[in-house]
Amino acid sequence: QIEDVWIRKVFTGRGDVTVEVELTAEDPTTGEVVITRAAAPAGASRGTHEVAYFPEGGVDAALAAFEKLVAPEIVGLDVSEAYVVDGKLEEVDGTPRFERIGGAVAIATSFAAAEAGAASLGVPLFSFIGGAYTRKLPLPLGNVIGGGRHSRGLGPDIQEFLTIPLNPPDIFTAVYTNVEIHKRTLKYILKVDSSFTGGKNDEGAWTPRISSHTALKILREVAKEVEKELGVEVGVGVDVAASSLWDGKKYVYKNEGAERGPREQMEFITKLIEEFDLVYVEDPFHEEDFQSFAELSDRFRDRLIVGDDLFVTNSERIKQGGMLKAATGVIIKPDQTGTLLRAYQAVEIAKRYGMRIVVSHRSGDTEYRSLAHIAVGFGADIIKTGIMGGERTAKLNELIRIGDYLGKWASISHIR
Ligand code: PGA
Ligand code: ZN
Repeated sequence: QIEDVWIRKVFTGRGDVTVEVELTAEDPTTGEVVITRAAAPAGASRGTHEVAYFPEGGVDAALAAFEKLVAPEIVGLDVSEAYVVDGKLEEVDGTPRFERIGGAVAIATSFAAAEAGAASLGVPLFSFIGGAYTRKLPLPLGNVIGGGRHSRGLGPDIQEFLTIPLNPPDIFTAVYTNVEIHKRTLKYILKVDSSFTGGKNDEGAWTPRISSHTALKILREVAKEVEKELGVEVGVGVDVAASSLWDGKKYVYKNEGAERGPREQMEFITKLIEEFDLVYVEDPFHEEDFQSFAELSDRFRDRLIVGDDLFVTNSERIKQGGMLKAATGVIIKPDQTGTLLRAYQAVEIAKRYGMRIVVSHRSGDTEYRSLAHIAVGFGADIIKTGIMGGERTAKLNELIRIGDYLGKWASISHIR
């Protein structure tokens, strides 16, 4: 049971202040003590319907809320039933959007409690979350070229240009495929812009001043080269993060000098999917446009049309999207909803509607590596966690370790 709790301010890879929660739990029969800690990640293209990140008053108000409301209530709880801790967080906050304690405090506490639960039972976190027979490894999806808010509006207008290995023989090769693509992309960028100095954005993606069209052309070429050499089929995708482009009436592509109304956006995205054979398209429309999502998903049943800001890991919104057949996949960012319990419920509902599960990092993330365990535990098809940079490789390396731990029992996800 939880003996002691601690909270401190730490930094994300982007240099934003976030919170880290530390728990000490003691097994009352053996007297064994475990210490776990976890930090909350932070997004830049946040969905409007996400939980509040900090309570009013910012990070210091979050620390105060933890000391006053959370700490006294969770000390003494049994971590082997981590959902009890998550339920308590909802209870002490009392608002659906975690406005009193903030989503950052909630998710850091939830993560740390789950870690303590797994440690108290002596099992890896992924089996604590998913059960003893959990052994499917998600395919890694990562951004190679980046724009939008993650590049301070200085790159392409589309936020992320991504690749995903589709039939890797093992998880190391899967990660290696993305790494090779990322490294080799520089040479192709220099061919179209010799003044590019190799800048990378928040998620470690190259951030040249090129158009979205050129970025996709480059990715296709690099993918072809790497496919041939490694013998792994590579899928190309985008995260449009269209809510960041939407001004209330139209999508504004500032750097590329285009403005598109909802119909034009539909045709633009359709053309991109066809021209570049995109297997993955995230947030092609703004976060309230369930109808356009449904139309696109109907056109491309065999592709992943994925909602991030649309769903914000919220069970109600996922259910709404499921009934409308708005998407074939869902982004699961546990911090968007505040607890692992809520994220788990969101996964259950998404699966009921046949959606693929994509467990994801945030653009401002930390060295917290257990997102890999969460993805495996949730039975995710894909883990979206960037390719380069310490906070990204922390999760990918952990995924490789999980693969090693499972050994011959590991299986790898297939998305088509
Ligand atoms: P974030 O966005 O900046 O909110 O983390 C990442 C994403 O849109 O997938
Ligand atoms: Zn997104």
